[in-house]
Amino acid sequence: MEKQVFEKYDGGQVTDSMLQEAAVLFSENYGVWGEHPAQMTGNFAKAGTRVRLSKDRLRAQYLYDNNTCSYVRVTVDGHLAGNAFACRWAVNNKSVCWVTQLVVDRNYRERGLAKSLLNQLKHDSINMYGLMSSHPAACLAAAKAFGDSLSTVRLDVIAKYAGEIMEASPIGYVKDAKLRGSIFSPGDTNGLVSCVDSGFFVDHTEPLEALAWVREGMDWPLGELLDGHEFLLVFEARSRSRSRSTGRQ
Ligand SMILES: CC(C)(COP(=O)(O)OP(=O)(O)OC[C@H]1O[C@@H](n2cnc3c(N)ncnc32)[C@H](O)[C@@H]1OP(=O)(O)O)[C@@H](O)C(=O)NCCC(=O)NCCS
Repeated sequence: MEKQVFEKYDGGQVTDSMLQEAAVLFSENYGVWGEHPAQMTGNFAKAGTRVRLSKDRLRAQYLYDNNTCSYVRVTVDGHLAGNAFACRWAVNNKSVCWVTQLVVDRNYRERGLAKSLLNQLKHDSINMYGLMSSHPAACLAAAKAFGDSLSTVRLDVIAKYAGEIMEASPIGYVKDAKLRGSIFSPGDTNGLVSCVDSGFFVDHTEPLEALAWVREGMDWPLGELLDGHEFLLVFEARSRSRSRSTGRQ
């Protein structure tokens, strides 16, 4: 039987060799650039080439603070099979945990590793969780980890809190992302429901295939996905005291 090991680290505990492994995992498994990559990366990335990150860029962008950034990873029989980066900040007396990267090696997908990685990020001190992602599987995993399920996602919570949370973010691409969709602009008729225009032109072939498949089994609540856009999710942490008072563990 295979051995899965989940580990969680504060930013300052992550060594260069761990980040080197994370950089390889990302560069081999995240995805490929779409048709407009120059807007993100200058003129270097060509459509169809892999989106890559070096260990130094991982450190600078995802672990910029030793105390408020976290890293979780899972190894399967000693092999790095998936990881997630997250950052915390406060807004209006609420503590927010934002998932900044989530990748699972394609040989280890669809066995619950993404959901379990996100579960590791949960903490009693956190009031809100958030994520931007073009991949429906990341949204499904986040909804299971931080909420109940995507079918019962609270769009009113996203509409109410996403703006102030993202505005207060120390992460440039989160702060700069533009809210899009009918929950923010009820008159919108482009099919977007809860999205951001992040200008991140990763190729959407794989996410759109996943979306079509997911839609066969459920009423997908987040609407359409456009190039350069990502789905947006914000969850209120479930209150432990409320669970206790109703007798749930
Ligand atoms: C998104 C990603 C992390 C999901 O990893 P994973 O370990 O396969 O996810 P899980 O096994 O935890 O699955 C979560 C849910 O998504 C579903 N799912 C996973 N892959 C799917 C696919 N290709 N198509 C449809 N549904 C899929 C699972 O069935 C599960 O649904 P359920 O909770 O209703 O049973 C992985 O596909 C990945 O690394 N993709 C490339 C990078 C990326 O897009 N990351 C997100 C950016 S934040």
